Amino acid sequence: MKIACLAGDGIGPEIMAEAKKVLAALDLPDIETADADVGGAAYKAHGHPLPPETLALCKASDAILFGAVGDPSCDNLERHLRPEQAILGLRQALTLFANLRPATMFPGLEDMSALRPEVAREIDLLIVRELNGDVYFGEKAIRTLDDGRRQGFDFMSYAEDEVRRIAHVAFRAAQGRDKRLCSVDKANVLETSQLWRDVVIETSAEYPDVELSHMYVDNAAMQLVRNPGQFDVVVTGNLFGDILSDQASMCVGSIGLLASASLGEAQTDFGTFGLYEPIHGSAPDIAGTGKANPMAMILSLAMLLRHSLGLEAQAQQVEAAVAKALEAGVKGADLGGGAGTAEIGDAIVDLL
Ligand code: NAI
Ligand code: MG
Repeated sequence: MKIACLAGDGIGPEIMAEAKKVLAALDLPDIETADADVGGAAYKAHGHPLPPETLALCKASDAILFGAVGDPSCDNLERHLRPEQAILGLRQALTLFANLRPATMFPGLEDMSALRPEVAREIDLLIVRELNGDVYFGEKAIRTLDDGRRQGFDFMSYAEDEVRRIAHVAFRAAQGRDKRLCSVDKANVLETSQLWRDVVIETSAEYPDVELSHMYVDNAAMQLVRNPGQFDVVVTGNLFGDILSDQASMCVGSIGLLASASLGEAQTDFGTFGLYEPIHGSAPDIAGTGKANPMAMILSLAMLLRHSLGLEAQAQQVEAAVAKALEAGVKGADLGGGAGTAEIGDAIVDLL
């Protein structure tokens, strides 16, 4: 099994080093890692944020572990040369259409949440957001009508195969968790949502062990803050998922703890091809200080083990070690603690 490691910019290399320590500590047979440049680092070395050799390595791998991109010294470059284009380029080139964002409350961190501790304590959910379709990619323009008024429009659409493939990802994710899936749409108003709902129901026939429910997006936004504990897996379209996934992540608190996966269509011998990254950026303000919390990166590695390498037991081991480290008070600056990047990585390795 081959993992492409793209550390990127800012704190990216610092947190990647800790994830690699954890991978080494698992002592898995037949795992190979290979590094490549991405983002501002790649622009400086090769003149492009996503050089062909980096893309080729990713295509030849079973999964990608991605740090973060973004370098203030590149702020004046043309848009297509900016570090952030690398992640968009990878999503497009590899058809990464399923964005998975777990939001789990770790014990003892309830005070970091924007919600009341007794409500926050119950959060253990996964948002599955479709990434390649919906209103973001439809025909769009600002035009002038015959009577001279300006009108903006964005065409919302989903084809049934686009809905089916994200539904399969969500049902399979639910099978690996509490076996409950809530599909979020706006089927009372939108035809796109009606098709979405019909296709999700059709797909559910293949997953009789998963309990399926449906919720309108406005209600889902309310329920996420009222009673987030009711959700296990949530599946939704690109627009609704963009908003709900940010909302859900802030319900648990620190940015240094939140992992994500972007899965593709390709099936490898072990699982689904995907890219795994923390949801935070390159944090240039703390780069080089040794203060970055590597936990989001390490939890992204756990997701990689689970979804791309089929190593569920090892994924759970890593997640348990992170939880134990937090319980033992190993906290980075983002959690009001004093532990440094390497110290946190070492503590997790010890617990493993
Ligand atoms: P950011 O997430 O990098 O930082 C926001 C704040 O959170 C900063 O104060 C930072 O120090 C802190 N922070 C972030 N990660 C942390 C960690 N692991 N441990 C401790 N503290 C942490 O967002 P910002 O500042 O808006 O963007 C910085 C650069 O990152 C920009 O160039 C942006 O475009 C890029 N970016 C890249 C992403 C990616 O690679 N997928 C995602 C988001 C932003
Ligand atoms: Mg967003």
